[in-house]
Amino acid sequence: MPPHEWDGATYDRISAPLERNGLAVLDRLLLNGQETVLDAGCGSGRVTQALAQRLPRGHVIGVDGSAGMIAAARQRLGASVELIVCDLTELDLGGRRVDAVFSNAVFHWIADHDLLFARLRGVLAPGGRLVAQCGGQGNTPELLDATLQVGATEPFASYLQGFSPWNYAGTEETTRRLRAAGFTDVRTDLVPRPVPYEDDIRTWLKVNALSAHLLRLPQDLRERYIDEVHAALGPQPEIAYIRLEIDATAAASA
Ligand SMILES: C[S@@+](CC[C@H](N)C(=O)[O-])C[C@H]1O[C@@H](n2cnc3c(N)ncnc32)[C@H](O)[C@@H]1O
Repeated sequence: MPPHEWDGATYDRISAPLERNGLAVLDRLLLNGQETVLDAGCGSGRVTQALAQRLPRGHVIGVDGSAGMIAAARQRLGASVELIVCDLTELDLGGRRVDAVFSNAVFHWIADHDLLFARLRGVLAPGGRLVAQCGGQGNTPELLDATLQVGATEPFASYLQGFSPWNYAGTEETTRRLRAAGFTDVRTDLVPRPVPYEDDIRTWLKVNALSAHLLRLPQDLRERYIDEVHAALGPQPEIAYIRLEIDATAAASA
């Protein structure tokens, strides 16, 4: 599935919980302040901004497949960060190499992880690091159930029967794929990170979790679909995030 469009401005407003997770991922990326780092799927740039602050003599490249997200990131970051609209599975920096790739909450939106990791390895200098987190095996089961259950009923079934946009990979397959793509010192882990979403879960469903589902539906069914998934989740749900953490190093030769 190619990347889809996101409402970058609204995502930027409501993505504090993802930013909190992202900052913890960023803490795993030790930097001396002068590296070039690529933020793979930078979204509206909240975590990219923190990354740029850690690189006062370095350079940040934010890449995202959604022009709406890149526009929001431009608004937030000004000209201080290089921003590129690009599908990560087609990533090509024209021969430039980066010292590290950072990514938060992105890889589970991408079906082909073999291709993704090969592209990321292709832009990393030998010895460069990949530090990432995404939804992993067993992530948000209540949400997956609710989307499938509502998506199996009419009038949604013609558009959504059996549809899930998420690729929640496990540790063993991810380790194998990273090694095949030319990474060494691979560490993968599945970590529970539950997030209470009592505040603005409907907007979170609309602009984040259900963004790909909604694009499959005609306009006049979209708000109803959000309402029915929201109802199926029950009051004050806790979203049971299970995150796949990835640390790896680009091998000397690939
Ligand atoms: C949940 S957002 C995370 C954004 C940001 N990293 C953050 O922490 O707030 C997921 C992002 O992944 C991007 N994305 C998904 N698939 C992509 C792909 N194939 N290529 C590039 N970006 C992609 C989306 O456009 C979106 O901005």
